[in-house]
Amino acid sequence: MEQQKLEKLLSKMTLDEKIGQLMQFAGHFYATNNNKDPVTGPDDLQVSSKSINYSGSVLGSAGAERNKEIQERYLAQSRMKIPLLFMADVINGFRTIFPIPLGLGASWDPMLVERAQTISAKEASSAGIHVTFAPMVDLVRDPRWGRVMESPGEDSFLNQEFAKASVRGFQGENLQADGERVAACVKHFVGYGAVEGGRDYNKVDLSERELRENYLPAFQAALEAGCELVMTAFNTIDSIPASGNQKLMREILRKEFDFDGVLISDYGAVEELIPHGVAADQKEAARKAMYAGVDIEMMSLCYENSLKELIGEGKVSVDLLDEAVLRILNLKNKLGLFENPYRGASIQKQNKYLFCPEHKEVAQEAAEKSCVLLKNNDVLPLRGGKIALIGPYADNPDILGEWSIFGKKEEAVTLKAGIAKHTSDYTYALGCPMYDRQETALTEAVNVARESTHIILALGEGSDRSGEGRSRSSITLPENQLELLRELKQIGKPITVVLFNGRPLDLMEVAELADGILEAWHPGSVGGTAIANLLFGKANPSGKLTMSFPRTTGQIPVYYNAYNTGRPLPEGSTERFYSRYIDTPNEPLYPFGFGLSYADFQYESLQLSANELKPGGSIDVQVLVKNQSDYSGEEIVQLYIRDLVGEVVRPVKELKAFQKVFIPANESKLVSFSITEEMLRYHHANLEFKSDPGEFKVLVGSSSTDLLSQSFYLK
Ligand code: BGC
Repeated sequence: MEQQKLEKLLSKMTLDEKIGQLMQFAGHFYATNNNKDPVTGPDDLQVSSKSINYSGSVLGSAGAERNKEIQERYLAQSRMKIPLLFMADVINGFRTIFPIPLGLGASWDPMLVERAQTISAKEASSAGIHVTFAPMVDLVRDPRWGRVMESPGEDSFLNQEFAKASVRGFQGENLQADGERVAACVKHFVGYGAVEGGRDYNKVDLSERELRENYLPAFQAALEAGCELVMTAFNTIDSIPASGNQKLMREILRKEFDFDGVLISDYGAVEELIPHGVAADQKEAARKAMYAGVDIEMMSLCYENSLKELIGEGKVSVDLLDEAVLRILNLKNKLGLFENPYRGASIQKQNKYLFCPEHKEVAQEAAEKSCVLLKNNDVLPLRGGKIALIGPYADNPDILGEWSIFGKKEEAVTLKAGIAKHTSDYTYALGCPMYDRQETALTEAVNVARESTHIILALGEGSDRSGEGRSRSSITLPENQLELLRELKQIGKPITVVLFNGRPLDLMEVAELADGILEAWHPGSVGGTAIANLLFGKANPSGKLTMSFPRTTGQIPVYYNAYNTGRPLPEGSTERFYSRYIDTPNEPLYPFGFGLSYADFQYESLQLSANELKPGGSIDVQVLVKNQSDYSGEEIVQLYIRDLVGEVVRPVKELKAFQKVFIPANESKLVSFSITEEMLRYHHANLEFKSDPGEFKVLVGSSSTDLLSQSFYLK
């Protein structure tokens, strides 16, 4: 439909119909709407059937048949016949579940992320979904926060790469293509990852420089890739909750980033302006959200109950309302809903796509590439012998992660099922339930372990311990699982711990007791196959951490791109007046960018084509990476830059480029990068974004702490 027609449509709408477009309610309201009032949801929200009949979009409803039926019923009673938009959280897959985003991040493979999200789009659109609430690109430095599992990690550059790749995967070149794409909604704008104390929904206070340097770039990258929607965050920024924050939403998002798509509030976030304490009632909350430019109010009724009155009193203009409605109509139009309100929803397509072999293959590849080998005292890959497969995660299908709302646990391949594809020479024992001690299970596990040559111990946190509303004040493994590890250690057999979890954990004791550690995250539908392939050497681990693993909860936040301080601790020093802890080293246990391989990669001969960078020019960087082993494998070569003297303090290093290269056994590869002036820019005291002449260091290597370095100068 042309723009003019949309505007004409808008001009024919009544005030009620316009306000309706701004409202979003959960799918269950539509499923149970029989035009009798009020309709009550499981969340106790009461909505009138009129609101449902007028609303513009639906939250979390999926299934070709169901969504078609809801759309049909809705349109039949609607005067304007404007189709409903169906939105849902398709985060790491729809029915075929990929690793959680923190795991996908550890693949350092944006192309893989794009392929995974193309599959998610195909599956979700066949089930009648038009918009996904993804990608989540909140930068995270605090593993106490349960939602770190939804993020690609602690680095702004990586987050940008993942933001772009996800948007390309969901939306493709053409949103309308065969109805097999979904519009992406980047979230949560902004700063949500910095909640104080890692406690969900808590206050966020970031300087504007910090916001611009680290938190905003991934959003900007998503928007530059064409992302259609943005979701507001729950938190405050500079003491103003995001959903009523005009500076963030109007000045930065709309004006500076030139965003003219749909801005949706997070779940109930408009009404939350009241408990936050910046609005006395729904009416004031509605006014503030409208002024901030929030187009859709998700799951609260402030617009519904007070916009009409606000407009009548001249406190909100009809123009402001029209602007919001038009943006929503525009999105519906871009998705092709006016031509076909049922769009991609198709039972045939569902049957063809959902959890089909091709999709499972990509999920397996993604899981293999997401696992991070943290320790290996020459125990992996397994070389035969009898395996004792022990632990609450050894035969547990809870491996899809918290957001896999449309995935099916019963379809998940457990570790045990994966191992059974390689050998029958294993014995399984539970060892302990996930969070409790059980004497009989412990005794059985010890007996099984005694008869084995190698113990595979599958530990972790269930999916109910990470995700939204699941902050922890301590991030160790459950005590009963540590006890199991201690008991098994007594037996003296080699132990490989496989970890299933949604956040970096304090692994100090595990690292001390285990001979091998494979971090598998919540690896998705085909996780067990992928992990077993890695354990048996059919695949070679290549994942690297995108979030530091602290030594102890008290070290949080600990991240790689920190400041030097005025008193940096000299290496090995235990002197008092330096920036340090007296009871633990400053460094995390496993740093950003770290991950082992069965191959042995050695870096040599870091060379620059020049040591002076002229404006408009570039410096070529080359490094030789040797694979000194009999295992072929992929290595993630990382390039960091340090600006030695800035107008404001600059981090000790910042990731600026990376490459994932395959190097056959006993071969070498010359890896090249290019440094340009753009990579050296930062926000100055007045927030101007530019570079300064002077000395820089380029650091290249296999993790943020294992690097070769050279100096160069910007003229
Ligand atoms: C979450 C969002 C999510 C929304 C809809 C909220 O509670 O914060 O990330 O998209 O619910 O399910």
